[in-house]
This record gives sequence, C-alpha cells and structure tokens, in this order.
Amino acid sequence: MNQAVPLSLQLAWFLATVLFVVGLRRLSSPARARSGIWCAGVGMLLAISSMFFHPQLKQNVELIIVAMTLGGGIALLHARRVDMTDIPQMVALYNGLGGAAAASIGLLVLLNVTEYGAMAKAMAVLSGLIGSIAFAGSLFAFLRLSGRFSRREGFAKRQVAYLANGSLVLLLGLILATSATAHPILLLLFALLAVSFGLLMTLPTSGADMPVLISLYNALTGLAVAFDGFVLENPAMIVAGTIVFAAGSLLTRLMARAVNRRLSEIMYSGFGLGTEVQNKEPRRDHVSTIDARDAAVDMAYADRVLIVPGYGMATAQAQHKLRELTQLLDERGVQTGFAIHPVAGRMPGHMNVLLAEAGVPYEKISDLNDINAEFSQVDVALVVGANDIVNPAARDDSESPLYGMPVLQVDQAKRVIVLKRGDGTGYAGVENALLFSPVTRVLFGDAKDSVQALIMAIKSLD
Ligand code: TAP
Repeated sequence: MNQAVPLSLQLAWFLATVLFVVGLRRLSSPARARSGIWCAGVGMLLAISSMFFHPQLKQNVELIIVAMTLGGGIALLHARRVDMTDIPQMVALYNGLGGAAAASIGLLVLLNVTEYGAMAKAMAVLSGLIGSIAFAGSLFAFLRLSGRFSRREGFAKRQVAYLANGSLVLLLGLILATSATAHPILLLLFALLAVSFGLLMTLPTSGADMPVLISLYNALTGLAVAFDGFVLENPAMIVAGTIVFAAGSLLTRLMARAVNRRLSEIMYSGFGLGTEVQNKEPRRDHVSTIDARDAAVDMAYADRVLIVPGYGMATAQAQHKLRELTQLLDERGVQTGFAIHPVAGRMPGHMNVLLAEAGVPYEKISDLNDINAEFSQVDVALVVGANDIVNPAARDDSESPLYGMPVLQVDQAKRVIVLKRGDGTGYAGVENALLFSPVTRVLFGDAKDSVQALIMAIKSLD
C-alpha cells in the first residue's frame, strides 16, 4: 500500500524513536524527569511534522492543520488552567481521547476495506476494538475521578451481558476482518459494542482498583496505536505505541501488586459485587482530637517524626508548608522523613511529584516497602490527608473491601496525628480504623492551615 518512503523521512522517524526511548529513560529519575518530558515532546513533534512530507499525504492537508491547531490550542489552554489536583482526571480524559483517535483510524480502514490486505484488516479490527475499550473505560474513569459518578454500578445478569457483549463484538470483528466489501452498519454496531464492553468492564470497579484499571487503559491505547502503525506502515507509531504499551503494562503490574490484587480479579471484581463499599460515616464523636499547640509540642520534642501524605495534601496544596515544617523540626534536631504509598493521591507518583515541586530532598522520601518496618521506632506519625493507605483494616479486617491491600503501618508508631477536615472517608468510601486507635489524635481543619498552625506553634516554643 505504501509508496517508497524517502530516506530523510525514515531518518526523522528513527530520530523520533530514539528521542522517545531516551525521554522514557530520563523519566525514571525525578531529577531528570523534566528533561525527559521535553525529549519525548520534541520526538513527538518531529514524528508529527515529518508526516507532512510523506508522499501519500496530499489530500486534506489544510483540514489536518486546522484540526491540529484547534485540538492543540484547546489542550494548551486546558493544561495551563488545570489545577494540580485535577491532573489525574485530565490524564484519564486525554488517554481516552487517544484511544478514540486510535480506534477511529482502525474503523476508517475497515470502511475502506477494499484498499487493504487481510493482515491490515485484522490489525484494524484489533485497533478499533482495543481503542474503543480504552476510550470508554478512560472516559468513565475521568467521570469517576472528577466526582461526577461516584457509585459502583451493578445490575442483575451482568455476567451474561458481559459475555454476550464480548462474544458478539468478536464475531462482528471476525466478519469485518474477512469481508471483501465494507459494511457500514456492521461497523457502527461493532464500534458501539466495543464501547459498551469497555463500560461494562469499568462500571463495577471499586475505588481502590481504579488506578490499576486506568494504567491498563493507558497500555491498551498504546497497543491500539501500535496496531494502527502496522496498518499505516508507520514505524514511529509502532515504536511509540509499543513503548506506551510496555510501560503501561509494567505500571499496571506494579500498581496491582501495590494493592495486592490480580488483574483478572480487578477486571471481573464487580461480578456479583461481593464486597460492597461500606460508606459508613466516621463516628466523629468517638475520635480523640488534639489542638495545634499540643501536636506541635509532641513533634518538637520527638526524636523521629514521619510524615504520611495522601490525597488531602494535594487538595490542600500543603506540600510547601510541610517542607517548611520539616526544616523547622530538622533545625531542632528531630529526624524527619516522608513515607509514600504507591497509590497515595490520585495518580502514580502523585506525592513524589508534589514533594519534589516543593523542594523536599529525595533522600527524605521512602517507599512503603522500605519504611514499613520502621514505624515502631517513630515517635510521631503525621498523617496529612491520607485515609485508605493507612487504614489498618486492610491488614486486620477480612470483611473490609480494602483487605489484602498493603498499607503503611502507621498505627505501629508511638503517636499518630491525623490532619483532616471533617467526616470524609477516603476514595474507597471505607471507615478508617486508624482514627479510633488509642494512639491516634485528630487535628481537624484544612491540611495547609493545620500545618501552618503547627509551624507557628513550634516557632512560639522558642
Ligand atoms: P483518600 O483515601 O482519598 O483520603 C483522603 C483523605 O484526605 C480523606 O480522609 C479526607 O478527609 C482528607 N482530605 C481531603 N481534603 C483535605 C484537605 N484539604 N485537608 C485535609 N484533609 C483533607 O487518599 P489516600 O489515603 O491518598 O488514598 C488514595 C486512594 O485513592 C486509594 O484508595 C487509591 O486506590 C485511590 N486512587 C489512587 C490513584 C493513584 S494512581 N494514586 C488513582 C485513583 C484512585 P476529609 O474529607 O474529612 O478532610
């Protein structure tokens, strides 16, 4: 199908590929991550702009430029305005749009089926199917993360609907891949069924499992793009898609391990909805409270203070104040550090990004596996807007929906101070047993205001 591609274009694609790989490599270190993003961005710009010199791209160039300017402009405006706390849903939304774009290419190939060979048609079916699933799932994840859809949905006979939907979409895919002529109605039905399959897969996912599924959809979008690359005989698409698929798959595996779940359990977790979300109100009147001055005294005269940040730190944007607090404690000879759970916040690396932005040194930050055994030697564990990731019920209560998920063993510390605003439960909607532990005191208020109050109180001790 392809005319000979000029050597200059092939060299541009090769360079773009190298830039993707180098960019990804640099992303593995927080210190080099910014340059990694630039590197991969320049690679993408090269891959896209070089396409304008492709001998086959003679038609609709003006339309493509208008579409790119509009899409790029909207994305730029949106990215500039979006709050740091809304980044996870933005990532889910853009990943969904990527899935839709990849699926559209596959579906358009199937509409012009006579121009393509058997292998290209099979690849187009796969990209249409996988891209549509990634689109529907990511869009639902976006709605869920932005609070527009908070309930887990279940309905009777869902297993039957899921299997019927899956079988039908595969059958239609087979017909489309082996047809010599185009079938627009069948194609529309195929696309709709692929989308509904993605929705059925995501609707019952519990809160704690959502990050794993988002990561999976990211990998699937990459896979759909790679299939499109085969169809269009574009190596840059194949490489970029494969890299996203490989990185997304590894991340999915890591995230599934972090919540101690198998991927198959997550994808079928809603079948029967055996573990319904409890959504109990925390018994605020049973919680022991503390004021900022007493909490400041506890920390200022401690040998070791460990801070456990969660989603509430991100919403309050308390990371800069926390760095100030640790500096103050360090000056008093208190050993300070941060303990990070892999699914703290709402996106992979959420806490690390915010703490790096606030200038917290990397050596002060420890991962769950490295730090968990040390909580018993900690005088004060300061939990800043974290809930699910410190809930001991995940370890002790086999009835809890979080049971089996590794959590930070905060309750083993000599004292625990929890900063939270009110009666809110965490993302999974599960009551936090830590709040009722005899070692726990709660300092109610917005995390940033509370940390500021702690700073003032510690300064006033001098
Ligand atoms: P959550 O369990 O969501 O708990 C957040 C806590 O912060 C709540 O107790 C809330 O209580 C408090 N809070 C909210 N705003 C606050 C503010 N301005 N000041 C003080 N406190 C505030 O967070 P987590 O412990 O970080 O756990 C993360 C959860 O999200 C896990 O279930 C995880 O599976 C899920 N998740 C993670 C990801 C990724 S990839 N990280 C993606 C999607 C979902 P109040 O309302 O009472 O203040």
